[in-house]
Amino acid sequence: MIYQTGYLRMCGIFGIITNQDIPIGQIALEGIKRLEYRGYDSCGIVAQYDSQLFIKKDAGKIDEINERLKLFDFPLESKLALAHTRWATHGPPTKVNSHPHLDCSRKIAVIHNGILENFLELKEQLELEGHKFLSDTDTEVIPHLIERYIRQGIDFTQAVIKAINKCVGAYGVVICHADHPDMIIAVRKESPLVIGIEEGKTTYCASDIPAFLPYTRMCYILEDNEMAILKAGSVKFLNITNPDEPLEKELNKIEWSIDAAEKGGYKHFMLKEIYEEPLALRQTMKIPRSKLQTFAKILWSAKNIYITAAGTSFYASLAGKHIVTKFLGKYIHAIECSEFQIELGDALQEDSVIICVSQSGETIDLIEAVRWAKEKLKKKITLLCITNVVGSSLTRYSDETIVTQAGPEIGVAATKTYCTQVLTLALIALEIARYRKVLNEQEINNYYEALKSTPDIIEDYLKNKVSNIKDIVNNLDKSSNFFYLARGISIATAKEGGLKLKEVACRFIEGYSAAHAKHGPISLVREGFPIIFIAPPDETYQRLVGNVMEFKARGGKIISVVVDSDKIITNLSDRTIRIPQPANKYYNIISPITFIPALQLLSYYAALKNNLDPDQPRNLAKTVTVH
Ligand code: M6R
Repeated sequence: MIYQTGYLRMCGIFGIITNQDIPIGQIALEGIKRLEYRGYDSCGIVAQYDSQLFIKKDAGKIDEINERLKLFDFPLESKLALAHTRWATHGPPTKVNSHPHLDCSRKIAVIHNGILENFLELKEQLELEGHKFLSDTDTEVIPHLIERYIRQGIDFTQAVIKAINKCVGAYGVVICHADHPDMIIAVRKESPLVIGIEEGKTTYCASDIPAFLPYTRMCYILEDNEMAILKAGSVKFLNITNPDEPLEKELNKIEWSIDAAEKGGYKHFMLKEIYEEPLALRQTMKIPRSKLQTFAKILWSAKNIYITAAGTSFYASLAGKHIVTKFLGKYIHAIECSEFQIELGDALQEDSVIICVSQSGETIDLIEAVRWAKEKLKKKITLLCITNVVGSSLTRYSDETIVTQAGPEIGVAATKTYCTQVLTLALIALEIARYRKVLNEQEINNYYEALKSTPDIIEDYLKNKVSNIKDIVNNLDKSSNFFYLARGISIATAKEGGLKLKEVACRFIEGYSAAHAKHGPISLVREGFPIIFIAPPDETYQRLVGNVMEFKARGGKIISVVVDSDKIITNLSDRTIRIPQPANKYYNIISPITFIPALQLLSYYAALKNNLDPDQPRNLAKTVTVH
């Protein structure tokens, strides 16, 4: 029987093994704190000493649990610990369902990120053999499977390989054994795992690099079906499908600093990451031109082009597709990745190009869409990927990859990555224009200068113009729902602005086409109903003026986002958010990038006003790794 879940599954895992006198409990605790963005409904730590495993775990946020259980408090003689921060799927967030999970003998401890699709079948067999289960989780079958093989006389490592080969699904699994205090075993299939190493001293494993970055910059990235055997200060790799062959892996040096992954003095990651947008854009401007040209050439020779993504990345794709289409002269079909297979079915043809956009490169609906397309058309399809994470799953399926240069994004709400995704697509669009000679060099240069000025415009806005945002938020407070309306390319901005407000401030708003809003939604408008119009001075402006008047005539309270020199919509508006950028065609294509920080800030302050934590929105996690 295959168990299907409709829940999300994201967890953070961390392991440490050392020969030094260091406080491994404290290090493990700090490790999962830096992974809290992956899930935060329960957590636990196991440490080995005195030939036993000692566990502290519970439901709740890490800080609360730490206050009660002193998660950091393990003796210095303990040289090995595993820690986990959970996002509930199989079973509610309770103490028994928290990780680590143990076998019957309480000697084998396991932490896991992913889903075991066949766990019910395995659990049934193991129960018949006499194994006792305590939790509702899928994870708990793993320690019992390992125990089964050890009881048959198989050694620990081989027992883990046998157990893992029984599991169907996705996993990043980390395992330790009370009788093997000199090793931790980590295995990966479809859930990220990285290994950090301080040569000769300490070895770490984690779902993400920031977890161990304060201690080491040297790391290995585990690929699917690879197993790492961690010893203090060393690591050995093997492939579980061919365990007898030794596996050599490349050691990577991480260049970015831990500061980039921590709050750096801001109250929340979301705020910090909005203020990092100028830097992220400047870095993204440095993407090698050869990469952009490769994408441009592939798109130009493609028969059919699709762009697919989820959430914020999808809205970035909508904005980017507008800009690319303008210079490409071919239509690009934008399809949400969750609908990709259903919508295209047999209509997906050979020689198509699919552009996949994803901050994490791990979003399961996108990975499944890509796998399906690859499988269906074998090699006769080209996958172009735009992601923020080097070595993510998406990059392994793609023919060509561009890595946006936003740096690590910790806030659950995507902010700086949105800007860099749109900028990347716009840079590709300019290469297409050059390649097709649809613009002369002077015009290309004008567009390029406009793109290059996006960091300065945002910097100027964030430094000098944000003061009215809090005021607008305070005045919005009594209205529980409202609209973000726009036309043309700005519909993407309206949708993304709306998504931000929904997810962090828990307010129901709709990002919609201003023209389409007349076909129904306008009936909601009454005296004082707020409508935010996104109004750059592009070819849709005059018609948008008409829309503003229609909503104003029905009592709507008009807040508009405009460029500094704007007059007409300004005069029709109750409030304006003014973006310091010139009003001409070269700058109009950059408005999806330059107008969004104001809407992100508005959502951020609306969350604070509602006493919500913008970094940990209800029911959400940063990366959705199951459907
Ligand atoms: O990592 P990805 O870009 O693939 O993630 C896609 C969405 O899950 C993500 O953008 C989500 O909508 C964010 N919470 C938006 O802030």
